[in-house]
Amino acid sequence: MTTHIVALGGSLLRPEEADQRSDWFGRLRQLAVHMEGNGRRLGIVVGGGLPAREGIELARATVSNSYRLDMVGIAATRLNATILQQSLIDIGCDVCPIIPTTTTQAVELLTSHHIVIMGGTTPGHTTDAVAVKFARDAGAPYCVIATNVSHVYDSDPRTNPNAKQIEEMTLAELANITGTEALEPGQSAAVDPIAVKWAQESALKLAVLDGRNLETLENALEGKPFVGTLVKVE
Ligand code: UTP
Repeated sequence: MTTHIVALGGSLLRPEEADQRSDWFGRLRQLAVHMEGNGRRLGIVVGGGLPAREGIELARATVSNSYRLDMVGIAATRLNATILQQSLIDIGCDVCPIIPTTTTQAVELLTSHHIVIMGGTTPGHTTDAVAVKFARDAGAPYCVIATNVSHVYDSDPRTNPNAKQIEEMTLAELANITGTEALEPGQSAAVDPIAVKWAQESALKLAVLDGRNLETLENALEGKPFVGTLVKVE
């Protein structure tokens, strides 16, 4: 039985346009039905997106401790995970009714459900890192990181108009771009440095892609060529 693990960026759940929102959810539901029909096991780790940023900003007025701010972020990821979980249960998918709190529990729950959806686990990293750990623990061949940019760039495209898309790279090259220091609570990056570090430690390949494009996401999950950045072990 093949297991597929994806980190789904929280921003994907809330596109700016309301009609795009229902469209994306509808196509994600189709993808889930399709994969379940093909007998795949699917682990989805959902990011916190807007509610995480809002919650952390709100708490920051009175809380300075990073650990506690991370706990607020984790709560938001679990909220988003619950939205997706209920949306898939609603159409009859075999989704686990529990949101696991550890990747060990998530792997265990994947033995009795086709789909397990979770959010964050503990402070000090983002859901990208949780997905890497989930993929490692589940024995998945790679981990898909679905975000809202099409590729990893050689520099930040928001500040450098000449930034170049990278189609293929190694984990060491990615670590050179992201660094290996943990992000601040609520801070965003193309890929979480801790996720890259854990992928290196587990010799786990990554596929970084734009999760707004569900065809690309499905291709990557199925191990087919996809539009995005393939991050090889070496
Ligand atoms: P996200 O995983 O959502 O961060 O976690 P992100 O990279 O900004 O992802 P997108 O934008 O949703 O795709 C949000 C915050 O929750 C805390 C951290 O503070 C993180 O910045 N968090 C999340 C943890 O502390 N541990 C976790 O396992 C997950």
